[in-house]
Amino acid sequence: MNHAVIDQLTVLSDAIRVRMLAVLEGRELTVSELCDVVQLPQSTVSRHLKTMADGDWVTSRKDGTRRLYTLPLDDVGDSARKLWQVVREPVIASSAASDDGRRLKQVLARRRSQSEAFFSTSAGQWDRLREDLFGATSHLRALAGLLDPDAVVGDLGCGTGNIAEWLAPFAGRIIAVDASKEMLKAARKNLAGCRNVQIRQGTLEKLPIDNGQLDVALMMLVLHHLPDPPRVLTEAARTLKAGGRLLILDMLPHEREEYRQTMGHVWLGVSEKQMTHWLQAARFKDIHWRILPPDAKTKGPSLFVATARRG
Ligand SMILES: C[S@@+](CC[C@H](N)C(=O)[O-])C[C@H]1O[C@@H](n2cnc3c(N)ncnc32)[C@H](O)[C@@H]1O
Repeated sequence: MNHAVIDQLTVLSDAIRVRMLAVLEGRELTVSELCDVVQLPQSTVSRHLKTMADGDWVTSRKDGTRRLYTLPLDDVGDSARKLWQVVREPVIASSAASDDGRRLKQVLARRRSQSEAFFSTSAGQWDRLREDLFGATSHLRALAGLLDPDAVVGDLGCGTGNIAEWLAPFAGRIIAVDASKEMLKAARKNLAGCRNVQIRQGTLEKLPIDNGQLDVALMMLVLHHLPDPPRVLTEAARTLKAGGRLLILDMLPHEREEYRQTMGHVWLGVSEKQMTHWLQAARFKDIHWRILPPDAKTKGPSLFVATARRG
């Protein structure tokens, strides 16, 4: 005689408990939501929940100050699952279960309207609230998840490594290159925990990367420092696989002449025409140009993003 099955049947021998389990199958509800669905007082629902939890038919978890209950069908074991299939069939077809189903819809709709009420009162403040709660860039950081997880990324002119640090959790491997010893010292510190980032000292004119290694090459705020952009772009193309993508972030043309002295800029920004010409000279295809929307909090010139594909 299999006592486990008898124990399981004992729990399932009550129509209310079976109704409650049917409601909790595939979803989580609080005790008070469950009370509203099966229209029974809290003491009765709690008593049945305890019996079902003791028989492993129900599990619960804390969510803040509330507790959510469910029928953990994936964890109950084969015999219990088969038993449940047999028992639930006639109960699901009953009018009591149909009423439960209608009330369940209302309970779930109430949850939705609570969240809708929140958004209708806080629509104007949501952006600030998101920034307070999660920082100004969390949603943009998440977009790195669109990278192919095996992608090999070259961060060309990586500076202190903050972009490589952002991307490291989402890429297969990152090769971070910079000419400056001081920048690389800071990068080594910042990237100490990123095991898939290789830091290499070298120039963009002669990259320390073999032919066709990269899926993606990034040049973030570097191009305006480079005397011979077509040469550097041709060199970047050499390190990309066929079809690999290049992304350039840089400044639009501006008149801040002082940047030449204060920050060593060679180019006072780059126009779309100039950028396209340089990319075409380096045999890139599928060239796209976008101007980034200005950020009112910043002081620098407007930025563009150019993307292209190695032919
Ligand atoms: C303005 S920083 C940008 C750093 C980083 N990409 C970022 O967006 O935070 C420019 C970086 O390019 C590097 N750089 C400039 N010319 C270079 C060259 N010819 N070869 C390699 N690195 C170069 C500098 O050392 C510096 O770290």
